[in-house]
Amino acid sequence: MPASRLVSRSVIASNGSRSCHSGHRRVYCAEMSYADEIYTHGHHPFIVAAHAERTAAEAAAFLLKRLERGERVLDIGCGPGSITVGLAEHVGKSGSVVGIDNSAEAIDVATSTHAAVPNVTFEIASAYSLPFPDASFDVAYGHQVLQHLADPTAALREVKRVLRPGGLVAVRDADYGTMAHHPRYPEITSWLELYHQLARANGGEPDAGRRLHQWVRGAGFRRLEVTSSVWTYSTAAERSSWAELWARRIMLARFADRAVELDLCEYMEIAALAAGWRRWASEPDGWFAFIHGEVIGVKPGH
Ligand SMILES: C[S@@+](CC[C@H](N)C(=O)[O-])C[C@H]1O[C@@H](n2cnc3c(N)ncnc32)[C@H](O)[C@@H]1O
Repeated sequence: MPASRLVSRSVIASNGSRSCHSGHRRVYCAEMSYADEIYTHGHHPFIVAAHAERTAAEAAAFLLKRLERGERVLDIGCGPGSITVGLAEHVGKSGSVVGIDNSAEAIDVATSTHAAVPNVTFEIASAYSLPFPDASFDVAYGHQVLQHLADPTAALREVKRVLRPGGLVAVRDADYGTMAHHPRYPEITSWLELYHQLARANGGEPDAGRRLHQWVRGAGFRRLEVTSSVWTYSTAAERSSWAELWARRIMLARFADRAVELDLCEYMEIAALAAGWRRWASEPDGWFAFIHGEVIGVKPGH
């Protein structure tokens, strides 16, 4: 599928509001309430299993040096909880971590996998409406979550409410606009355009990494520490697992049906993108990389 076909259907208005034009239908993303947002990836078991490979050592490396024993930590959008339990190790037995996610499937996996970890609990909750009193936590962390939210600043304000004055928020998100690959495959270029369009139609912002500092500051946090880090896929095993993840993800009903419903593409075109991903994975010189934004902010007032 030529990338231009997908590009021509997406409109970024000069005032910055986003709209996704889909033939007879037009989805105004900027006006989308967070009640209408759709989590683009869904919770198919292979997606949740891929998230469960993540570790605090990698995903929270920018935060770990500032975590202290005995602290109370909130993990927002914790998914299957593998990072959550890593954070718990860092705060020790005198500390505690609560993982929240608005998906019952994710919380079921997290709870059943990590039931034996004494200082971790998991709850179903929305980042926009946290079921905790003011000032309940010392640190709040969120990994690859804000990119999926229609109003990340509102969620961060709610996070600020449950942090004590002087408490830290730490967020990390991919920035899809930085994704680069070699050798160049038109299918991967088209996939990236399609992903941007679909994620925005679902209320999210796939180029979140570059905006985290803006959102965190906008929610009222101060003394920001802004860093970035890169994921790279170059070995045969890395290319294969990354390509397979995307080839399978886009063929799922969650992605494919929604893209077709929005008239962004046809099923056959999505199948061609998946095949392109798999061919790219077999390129001996294949390379794929992208940047993550990372921000730590302090709740003022102590
Ligand atoms: C990409 S996954 C990341 C999971 C985990 N943080 C990790 O990095 O492995 C995003 C998670 O955010 C959750 N999520 C999306 N919107 C949410 C919301 N409004 N409130 C709470 N969780 C949300 C999803 O259910 C999903 O489990």
